[in-house]
Amino acid sequence: MNKMTVRDVDLTNKKVLMRVDFNVPMDENLGITDDTRIRATLPTIKYILQGGAKKLILISHLGRPDGKVVARYSLKPVALRLKELLGEPVCFLNDCIGDDIKREIDTVSERVILLENLRFYPEEEANDLNFSKQLAELAEVFVNDAFGTAHRAHASTEGVAHYLKAVAGFLLEKEIQYLDTAIKNAAKPFYVILGGAKVSDKIGIIENLLPKCDSILIGGGMAYTFLKAKGESIGNSKLEKDKLDLARDVLGKAEKLNKEILLPVDHIVVEKIEPGAKIEVVEEIPDSKIAVDIGPKTINLFKERLKDAKTIVWNGPLGIFEIESFSKGTEQVAQFITTLKATTIIGGGDTASAIAKFGLEEKMTHISTGGGASLEFLEGKVLPGIASLADK
Ligand code: 3PG
Repeated sequence: MNKMTVRDVDLTNKKVLMRVDFNVPMDENLGITDDTRIRATLPTIKYILQGGAKKLILISHLGRPDGKVVARYSLKPVALRLKELLGEPVCFLNDCIGDDIKREIDTVSERVILLENLRFYPEEEANDLNFSKQLAELAEVFVNDAFGTAHRAHASTEGVAHYLKAVAGFLLEKEIQYLDTAIKNAAKPFYVILGGAKVSDKIGIIENLLPKCDSILIGGGMAYTFLKAKGESIGNSKLEKDKLDLARDVLGKAEKLNKEILLPVDHIVVEKIEPGAKIEVVEEIPDSKIAVDIGPKTINLFKERLKDAKTIVWNGPLGIFEIESFSKGTEQVAQFITTLKATTIIGGGDTASAIAKFGLEEKMTHISTGGGASLEFLEGKVLPGIASLADK
């Protein structure tokens, strides 16, 4: 990586400002339901503390409070979880800028401090330079470890780097290394599995990775716009009518490049999408039915294609995995790829949730902590949170 990391700066006795992505899912009682993103920052936090930093000031957003103070989006519960995970006291301060905060940072006994949600200020998402400056005034070094937010040009990701030397944390570095290798230097055969509801969400990845990979395997809701574009009947399955031409275009491009796009050949269909719905396996989808998962023949076809893989990038579930009886396609393909001698890279968001649901997290090479960020990275876009880091 040609960007500076936390290893390249002297931390001794320094106040360090670190942007993390603690945008974690919570239930109605503000209980954290998945702390992966908090755990993922621990190596950088520990390194900074061991490196002799005077204070470590953590900043993050949580949810989309729209520039207003919204109690349920307070980061306070995250401070408590971080304290448990870190085994070290964590001080929570209920604002993120200003003289009082500066004073408290200097006077509290704790070395680790988590500040309140940045998005309580509209200036954060507006990438307001004065707000960035106020954040920068809190410390002497800026570490960005918020890969999940690296695709946002916000005051705490991009703006602050205009005022403080910005270096990557270990999580950001690891994400860049895995995703970059997949894009630029993937060992072959290189297969891309795509799913999820919308063609429009994945078109950028297809365009960027089609020339680089050997095959793209498509499942999930987006597959039905492709099947329709090929003239197949899809019943009442998910269709993006306005993306039919785009799908035809992609299929044409693949043919020209002599690349394979593998689509489902059979389907799990239902009358209505609900838990407990009666399921049927079909090769041709009847008019009244909705496809909710890939069928057994498709699972075998995908396994057959993937069996010699050296690299697999997967973004988007192959069916509605949240409902048990529609989750087999995603689960069986996920199980299968863990048995291969391949580098397996899983995009964040829904795909990461599916892998966690099946208990396969430890068996994948890399699961990204960024949903939108990993998508944009794989599309080949420059992410502002990375571009703003100091060059080596
Ligand atoms: C995410 O969860 O993808 C990141 O934290 C970014 O959140 P955002 O989509 O609200 O900017």
